[in-house]
Amino acid sequence: MFENLETLSPDPILGLMAAFNKDKNTNKIDLGVGVYRDESGQTPIMNSVLEAQQLHHQTESTKAYIGPPGTPRFNELSREMMFGSEHSALTDRRVAGVQTPGGCGALRVAAELIKRASLQTTIWVSNPTWANHRPLLGNAGINIKEYAYYDNDTRSLNETELFTALDSVPAGDIVLLHGCCHNPSGVDLEQSHWETVAQIANKKGFIPFIDLAYQGLGESLIKDSIGVRILGEACAELIVASSYSKNFGLYRERVGSLQIVSPNTKQSNVVQSQLGSVVRGIYSMPPSHGAAIVESILGDERLGKMWRKELESMRNRINLLRTELASGLSDETSRDFSFIKTQRGMFSFLGISAAQVATLQENYAIYMVDSSRINVAGINDTNIEYFIASMKSVLSEG
Ligand code: LMR
Repeated sequence: MFENLETLSPDPILGLMAAFNKDKNTNKIDLGVGVYRDESGQTPIMNSVLEAQQLHHQTESTKAYIGPPGTPRFNELSREMMFGSEHSALTDRRVAGVQTPGGCGALRVAAELIKRASLQTTIWVSNPTWANHRPLLGNAGINIKEYAYYDNDTRSLNETELFTALDSVPAGDIVLLHGCCHNPSGVDLEQSHWETVAQIANKKGFIPFIDLAYQGLGESLIKDSIGVRILGEACAELIVASSYSKNFGLYRERVGSLQIVSPNTKQSNVVQSQLGSVVRGIYSMPPSHGAAIVESILGDERLGKMWRKELESMRNRINLLRTELASGLSDETSRDFSFIKTQRGMFSFLGISAAQVATLQENYAIYMVDSSRINVAGINDTNIEYFIASMKSVLSEG
């Protein structure tokens, strides 16, 4: 039967990882997949995670099933991290949620739940958005449309077109927004933008859905979740998918969470039961190990403090690299790259052509996504000069 299927080309982001690993060039630089790297180019396990893991090994007493929603404590801590413990959605008991296999699992469970609720719903994604949003949500059978977001000319938010587009979203549709560290552009919404989004959502009757995959890697844990906090207060319904891959470095453990705000507790209980049933019908229940580590860290004062310090140094390194890249590239080439400094998170578009991206890969062994999205964290003191010099020669070739 499977002879009817065709071989597919590699995933645009994951395919780069394989190509990079095969490359023998000793100067090679990986600016592709969104994985944090330290100054030595490694993605080490955070010390807080190592400690929590050891503790977990000593104290774990069973490998019995944890059930479709995951542990109540993990869900509670996840909500507190995204909303803040005093948020009215929490104190009013209006949030239902599940522990998921990564942020991807959260996005997909949300899509399946949306489909159960309405077959007519469209999910609106930003133009551009993360390459895996369409497959993750669309493969659930949901219609996807785009709204304007990034301005290629100014390399910043296209505020006017964004709000015009949101103003035309039909009632009952879903609008997916990036909570912080927009992937792929690095262009984030500010507090006033979130307030406007809330107003339009209430006026038009669409439901906001926030993908919070990089909390803590932009400005701070609180500032990066300002959109969640504002919309959770202003809107009767809100969907939030979060990931612990990047801020805890738990990529391969697959830890995420899906939290949904409802108008009241009664409705929230319905959502909770539906979520459990969706999960049971896809993968039955989430893996436990990574989530147990997150639970121990967020639930322990000392470990929590240690983790927040480590996260802060990751964030500071990314923001310092942004400053260095912006001035280095602007000084050495005839272009203005100052936008890199003002954007946030791991990603920015360099704004070069696909042909120039291909030349950087073929002639200089510098790997990035075709769209010219770079992972800023792939730069370090050892490779920054080579990167800037390579960009200079590729740009001067025209
Ligand atoms: C990325 O955008 O590079 C990351 O989110 C990793 C992935 O799975 O695509």
